[in-house]
Amino acid sequence: MATESALQRQDSKIRIESWLARADERSLADNVRKGLTSRVKQLPPKHFYDERGSALFERICDLPEYYLTRAEREILTERAEVIVSATEAGELVELGSGSPDKARLLLDAMFARGALVRYVPVDVSEAALTDAAAELASEYEGLQIHGVVADFERQLDRMPQADGTPRVVALLGSTIGNFPPASRRALLAQIATLLGASDRLLIGADLVKDPAVLEAAYNDSQGVTAEFNRNILYVINRELDGDFDPPAFEHVAFFDPRQEWMEMRLRARRKMTVRIADLGLEVSFARREEVRTEISAKFTRARLRSDLAAAGLEVREWYTDDEERFALAVAGLLG
Ligand code: SAH
Ligand code: TRP
Repeated sequence: MATESALQRQDSKIRIESWLARADERSLADNVRKGLTSRVKQLPPKHFYDERGSALFERICDLPEYYLTRAEREILTERAEVIVSATEAGELVELGSGSPDKARLLLDAMFARGALVRYVPVDVSEAALTDAAAELASEYEGLQIHGVVADFERQLDRMPQADGTPRVVALLGSTIGNFPPASRRALLAQIATLLGASDRLLIGADLVKDPAVLEAAYNDSQGVTAEFNRNILYVINRELDGDFDPPAFEHVAFFDPRQEWMEMRLRARRKMTVRIADLGLEVSFARREEVRTEISAKFTRARLRSDLAAAGLEVREWYTDDEERFALAVAGLLG
């Protein structure tokens, strides 16, 4: 392609391809301009995850209030073997892979069956991806790691072709919840194109529950989530020469009972004007004015089933943790 180049690093087992280039810087600039000049201000969530953002997210996963990661790991620990053996899968394609500790459970199950061939982590965060690849390469003999630095919303056509090995495509960590319904279904339809008739999609989804439990998970007592939310302001300052004063924004996280999603916002502690030099933009904030940054939808089995069906997919298995806080859906092509 003319506008995108593949940067490749060839190793004995690790290969990392990057498809994020100027197109992505443009998307940050476009999204920030559009979001900050609209009536209800909004900022683009996928830009949370620079190196600092990915590190903060890993700390979130260990927080006592953030039960999601532990619940999902509990399910995978119990079910990885049956998931893998049902399809004889030897390839894991993981979208939004982040740190590799949950992937390891699936890779272990494939390895134990002698089926493991290739791991394809896909992430916008190059740092997270190269760290994960290096860790895993030393752990599994003969494993090919083909990392792809790409935006899974726009660039799934860049994924390596299946090579005949049955594959599991995974979207873990409730990442599906960060997409509002229309784009969620569009993303699932894109993901379906990666699947053959006997391949499987694994989706980790957080379930509707007591709002107090949800709100604590997204507003922890140590303030790590608050710092993660504010990270988008640091990204804008660095990438677009902005002068946001991040501590001047308060982290807000609340459950919207009508939509059944958590909503994250940044609220200006005072009236202020922010300049974003690269955009030639001045943005004024009233005291207590809020910027929306992210949603995290909570699911019922029926909701996920209908989102998947809209994308031509059906739920084949549905697993939850003991306390039924989190679900892992195993889906395949309809029919
Ligand atoms: N799967 C991991 C990480 C979840 S956090 C876990 O369950 O703990 C979400 C991850 O998706 C981050 O690593 C982030 O960098 C990545 N991500 C978010 N939006 C993305 C996009 N549009 N394309 C590719 N990766 C994305
Ligand atoms: N996928 C994660 C989730 O929805 C992302 C996340 C966790 C997040 N904590 C957050 C996003 C706080 C924004 C703010 O749980």
